Amino acid sequence: MIAITKLFDTDIPHVQKIRLNKEQVEFAGTVEEFLTDASDTTHLHVIKNGDDIIGYFKLDLAYANKYDFCPNHAVGIRAFVIDKQHQGNGYGTRAVEVLFSYVASAYPDYSEIVLTVNCRNTAAYACYKKAGFEDTNEKYLGSPAGPNYIMKGRCH
Ligand SMILES: CC(C)(COP(=O)(O)OP(=O)(O)OC[C@H]1O[C@@H](n2cnc3c(N)ncnc32)[C@H](O)[C@@H]1OP(=O)(O)O)[C@@H](O)C(=O)NCCC(=O)NCCS
Repeated sequence: MIAITKLFDTDIPHVQKIRLNKEQVEFAGTVEEFLTDASDTTHLHVIKNGDDIIGYFKLDLAYANKYDFCPNHAVGIRAFVIDKQHQGNGYGTRAVEVLFSYVASAYPDYSEIVLTVNCRNTAAYACYKKAGFEDTNEKYLGSPAGPNYIMKGRCH
């Protein structure tokens, strides 16, 4: 069963074992970057399959302050990752589905989730779409890695 929890200190050694394919690092950053980015508004989370940590992501509560395309009632997701050994099994899609209800119950002040995904990142775009995100048909052009789709999904 796929579940989402906040990152605890005891999770860190498990997160440090997560690997991405080389060409995926430009889309999601490194594990070390993930682990050092926590703040009052950036909340680190892990994705579990049973007791095993198979991925991670950040919830950015200040996304609306940074990006004009993000409404005030929306939270951002960044660095959404499934370990390379576990990719392609439907876990990413399931984790995003779980995320909509997780945000609704753990962050009731936010009713929508917003993200950007690089236009070359076909796997992530397909995963988000399949799990219920909609392409807004607007592009974010401020990333050094190239144009990004802007996607939104309603929490439920
Ligand atoms: C994006 C990511 C989280 C998806 O996780 P996943 O568990 O592999 O996704 P799923 O198995 O649920 O696959 C969902 C859909 O993505 C597509 N997909 C998955 N792997 C793919 C690949 N290697 N190439 C192309 N499409 C792929 C498929 O359409 C798949 O649906 P289908 O199986 O019904 O055909 C994972 O690939 C990943 O960690 N990528 C690197 C980090 C990244 O780019 N994150 C996004 C930052 S915005």
